[in-house]
Amino acid sequence: MFTRLLCVNDYEQHAKSVLPKAVYDYYRSGANDQETLADNIAAFSRWKLYPRMLQNVAEIDLSTSVLGQRVSMPICVGATAMQCMAHPDGELATVRACCSLKTGMMLSSWATSSIEEVAAAAPDALRWLQLYIYKDREVTKQLVQRAERMGYKAIFVTVDTPYLGNRFDDVRNRFKLPPQLRMKNFETNDLAFSPKEDFGDNSGLAAYVAKAIDPSISWEDIKWLRGLTTLPIVAKGILRGDDAKEAVKHGLDGILVSNHGARQLDGVPATIDALPDVVAAVEGKVEVFLDGGVRKGTDVLKALALGAKAVFVGRPVIWGLALQGEKGVQDVLEMLKEEFQLAMALSGCQNVKVIDKTLVRNPLAISRI
Ligand code: LAC
Repeated sequence: MFTRLLCVNDYEQHAKSVLPKAVYDYYRSGANDQETLADNIAAFSRWKLYPRMLQNVAEIDLSTSVLGQRVSMPICVGATAMQCMAHPDGELATVRACCSLKTGMMLSSWATSSIEEVAAAAPDALRWLQLYIYKDREVTKQLVQRAERMGYKAIFVTVDTPYLGNRFDDVRNRFKLPPQLRMKNFETNDLAFSPKEDFGDNSGLAAYVAKAIDPSISWEDIKWLRGLTTLPIVAKGILRGDDAKEAVKHGLDGILVSNHGARQLDGVPATIDALPDVVAAVEGKVEVFLDGGVRKGTDVLKALALGAKAVFVGRPVIWGLALQGEKGVQDVLEMLKEEFQLAMALSGCQNVKVIDKTLVRNPLAISRI
């Protein structure tokens, strides 16, 4: 059916040709002039690898753990919203692919399949819930409790979205869900981002966020969330060392260095450039993860060398999903796994424990004054 797809960029090009324009635009876009969107990718190229030779790499062990749970590789699936727009099987396909690969899936609060449906589709899969803090704290609390009940293993609380970033394509397209879909975790039309609602002459999602999500949240609310559950909680969307320290002080269990796929504040650093400060700040007290711009095996190696415990991929999963549902996601994850394995072998790493910061150097590293 297709010419052979050999890298994530091939998947994106083909996905673009099968997805409705407004859907492709939604997933692809970054905020404003998309400077950070480009830099998330470009920054990885600025970091150069310094491979070690003659390390006997006949056997490579890629496995690791994330918040105490074993995974076959340090490549997990990050939250992307409303996956049934990309393929009718949506989140159910993604979780099944993660289960086959023995890696974890972070389910978006804004999924087009519910927390319960995703759990039922792959009861054995390692699943986490991404959480937005709603103005209505009862709604927020119920999401956490449903995740706990259904065996999700952690909460990733998004801290970078008091308002939605300005994505020009979504404004031009007046982006909203296709008529047959809704955000399945919510009962009422307004919370479910129902296409029946009127969102005015704007990105429908930006209007939804302005209405439902609480822009007044502060560390006090993180304290509240911490008191709500015994599940590990990870702060998703941290770019500064002092914020990371604050999260640790508030009893959080991990930091996800993320700029939200460059979809929020444009002009922030690429995540790979922000990672070293955060890793230094937390002093090994919690696990640090990264998402944003991970498109190939060497990106994963660089992130781990700079101290990430694992990385999350978002858009690459969407491109695979769009093309072939569960099989497409599985293919993309397997491709990244093989690329990472080869990158480890060619840099002399038998297992992830020996990946250290001597493997990378960046003559152009940005530093804060
Ligand atoms: C976005 C939200 C859903 O970036 O995370 O569109």
